[in-house]
Amino acid sequence: MEFSIKQGSPEKLKSGCVVVGVFDGGKLSRAAQALDKAAKHALSDLIARGDMSGKAASTLLLHKLPGVLSERVLLVGLGKASELNNKTSLEILSATFKALNATPAKDATLFIVDEGVGKDAAWVIKQAVFNAAEQAFRADGMKSKPAKPATLKSITFASLEKPVAALKTAVEQAAATAHGMELTKTLGNLPGNICTPSYLAAKALALGKAHTGIKTTVLDEKTMQKLGMGSLLSVTRGSEQPAKLITMEYYGAAKTQKPIVLVGKGITFDTGGISLKPGAEMDEMKYDMCGAASVLGTLQAIAEMGLKLNVVGVIPTCENMPGGRATKPGDIVTSMSGQTIEILNTDAEGRLILCDALTYSKKFNPDTVIDIATLTGACVIALGHVASGMFSNEDKLAGELIAAGEQSHDRVWQLPLWEDYQPLLDSNFADMANIGGRAGGTITAACFLARFTKDYRWAHLDIAGTAWKSGKEKGATGRPVPLLTQYLINRTASK
Ligand code: BES
Ligand code: MN
Ligand code: ZN
Repeated sequence: MEFSIKQGSPEKLKSGCVVVGVFDGGKLSRAAQALDKAAKHALSDLIARGDMSGKAASTLLLHKLPGVLSERVLLVGLGKASELNNKTSLEILSATFKALNATPAKDATLFIVDEGVGKDAAWVIKQAVFNAAEQAFRADGMKSKPAKPATLKSITFASLEKPVAALKTAVEQAAATAHGMELTKTLGNLPGNICTPSYLAAKALALGKAHTGIKTTVLDEKTMQKLGMGSLLSVTRGSEQPAKLITMEYYGAAKTQKPIVLVGKGITFDTGGISLKPGAEMDEMKYDMCGAASVLGTLQAIAEMGLKLNVVGVIPTCENMPGGRATKPGDIVTSMSGQTIEILNTDAEGRLILCDALTYSKKFNPDTVIDIATLTGACVIALGHVASGMFSNEDKLAGELIAAGEQSHDRVWQLPLWEDYQPLLDSNFADMANIGGRAGGTITAACFLARFTKDYRWAHLDIAGTAWKSGKEKGATGRPVPLLTQYLINRTASK
């Protein structure tokens, strides 16, 4: 889907459908007033007749208005200007694209930038782009007869006044972010028999080919063995698929500038290993590589934007399977850091691959390291599907992530990393155990990672509740690509 922004008047800009807002009580927005004038009061007449009240997120589709070049006009209710909040803005946008997608229009012009759809025009534009892309996304690529792709292909945001440069940038950044989310969703939805560690590595190499700014390297098990990644390798022992360690280096700024490293959990299927998971909904463990997919999506997005920043993606990827060679509860392994780990539960495997990837990340001399992982079921219990869990060893970084979450509407909630939780990981036989019991499961998982991230500024995102939807709407969400790209955009602005 393509997005652009321009100045114009609604009766003259020609497209499959022009969209204008109507406030509660039938008060016309400025763009609607212009249309009304051109169409000999067709809009004020129908409002007087009671066909459109302006109730938030209501819509009315009109055809061939006299004096209007577009074939269709979509009136969208904006509600009371005084009652507008982010939630209503999103409902209005969602209703708008639902109504547009019900028409055969291939392109549409939206007068929503200066028309009270939201408090902040850039925010509204970004959310409009994400919503349009989400509604156009199809997850049925593996059906023998996929449904028809969306007909709506091109969106123009229009405003009566010349749009400021910042809004043009907002459209470009949002479009690149939406494209990145699409990649993340597509990878996330792929089943484990197709999306293997080697498949992810091939996709990362392809991304390197498509964007000259990205250099991809893939390490095999032999090299990981030499590096001493005993923790990562313990997870893949039960699998027939070889593990991979993928790195993607994007240098958009001077090489001397320290990079931000994104580390994504890439378990392409999590059976639990010998600590086997119960059967119900186990299929959803194909999503256990969504952290990795979000790193790929974010790198694609920033490369498309040409962001002037250095970013490195690190993806440890393997399967977690039971088998004759698989790691057993009680086994002790040595991580790349030298610290030993007693594996009391083979289903707590995410932290085992991440700890070695986090140690490996030091080689990039990072400014900041952020890991992204579908790490704990406990995080879903704590925060549901609204916010991702966030931890950091630096409050400034935590604050920046919270702010980027609000800006992108891809929100995080900070949880404590207090030392008080650390003793829960004590082991009689090794430096630490890989689990800390049921209490505070999301926190003890983060505390485990904290033992490997002492040398740099670090944050951990637990996306177990936000990376995909279950039930009838089952599918990857593309989160937290909007959060990560917004954070990176903000980092360029502050430099
Ligand atoms: N991938 C899972 C976490 C998960 C579970 C994400 C359910 C989304 C939904 C992770 O590898 C895991 O199995 N974690 C265990 C940890 C436990 C053994 C300490 C969990 O959450 O049950
Ligand atoms: Mn697991
Ligand atoms: Zn897992």
